Amino acid sequence: MDKITIAIDGFSSTGKSTVAKRLAATLGYIYVDSGAMYRAVTLYAMNNGYIGEDYFDEAGLIAVLHNIDITFHFNEELGFAEVFLNDINVEKQIRTLEVSRFVSQIATVSDIREKMVLQQQRFGKDKGVVMDGRDIGTVVFPHAELKLFMIATAEKRAQRRYDELIARGDEVDYEDVLQNVQSRDHIDSTRADSPLTKADDAVEIDNSEMTLEEQFEIVYQYALQKINKTT
Ligand code: CDP
Repeated sequence: MDKITIAIDGFSSTGKSTVAKRLAATLGYIYVDSGAMYRAVTLYAMNNGYIGEDYFDEAGLIAVLHNIDITFHFNEELGFAEVFLNDINVEKQIRTLEVSRFVSQIATVSDIREKMVLQQQRFGKDKGVVMDGRDIGTVVFPHAELKLFMIATAEKRAQRRYDELIARGDEVDYEDVLQNVQSRDHIDSTRADSPLTKADDAVEIDNSEMTLEEQFEIVYQYALQKINKTT
C-alpha cells in the first residue's frame, strides 16, 4: 500500500500530538512532533542566556544555531520518539510552562524556522509520516495528501494543558496557562514568517466537545480514505 504524508496543524493544546502519535502507530508511520523542535531550541536559548524575562539576543542565537543539534530517538516503552538536544534527552524539560512562555518568540525567527523546516522535510522525504505543528500543511509539506486543522475554544485548550501539567507534577495556575495559550495563539497567527493558518485544502476539525477517542476515529477515517484513494 502506498504511504501518504499527513499534516496536522492547529492551535496549541488541540490534541494534535496525541492523535498524531496514535495515528502514526496505527498506520505504521513515523510521527514527528515539530513543536518539540522549536521547544528544544528555546530550551537551548534559555539555558545559554539568549532569552529571558525581558531580553532576547536574537542575533547571538542565530550565530550559534550550528551548535544546536536536535534528534529524535524512539522509546520502545513509551511507543514514541523522544526529543534530544545535543544528545541529551530533553523530552520532559521542554514541556514546562517556562519553555511555553518563550517558544513562540523563538519560532518567529526565520533563520531558526529555515533550519527546522529543512530537517522536517528530510524526516518526511519517504512519506509515511504524520507530522503536527503550525505550518506543516502550508510550508513544510504543501503537497501532503491529507491536511487537518484542529481548533477548540481557548478555555477548553487551557483546561487540557493545565490538567496535563498538573498530572506531571508541575505547579501551575489555570489563569497563567490560559494566558499563555492566548498569547501563543496571537504570536503564532500574526508572525510574518509561516503564520499559523489553515491551508486551503485542509479539513477543519473543532474538537471542543470531542473526546480524544472521537477525535481519533474521525482522523483515522480521513486517513484511510486518502490512503485507499492513492493506492
Ligand atoms: O503542544 P503545544 O500545542 O503547546 O505546542 P507545540 O506544538 O509544542 O509548539 C510550541 C510552539 O512552537 C508553538 O506555539 C509555535 O510557536 C511553535 N511552532 C511553530 O512555530 N511551528 C511548528 N511547526 C510547530 C511549533
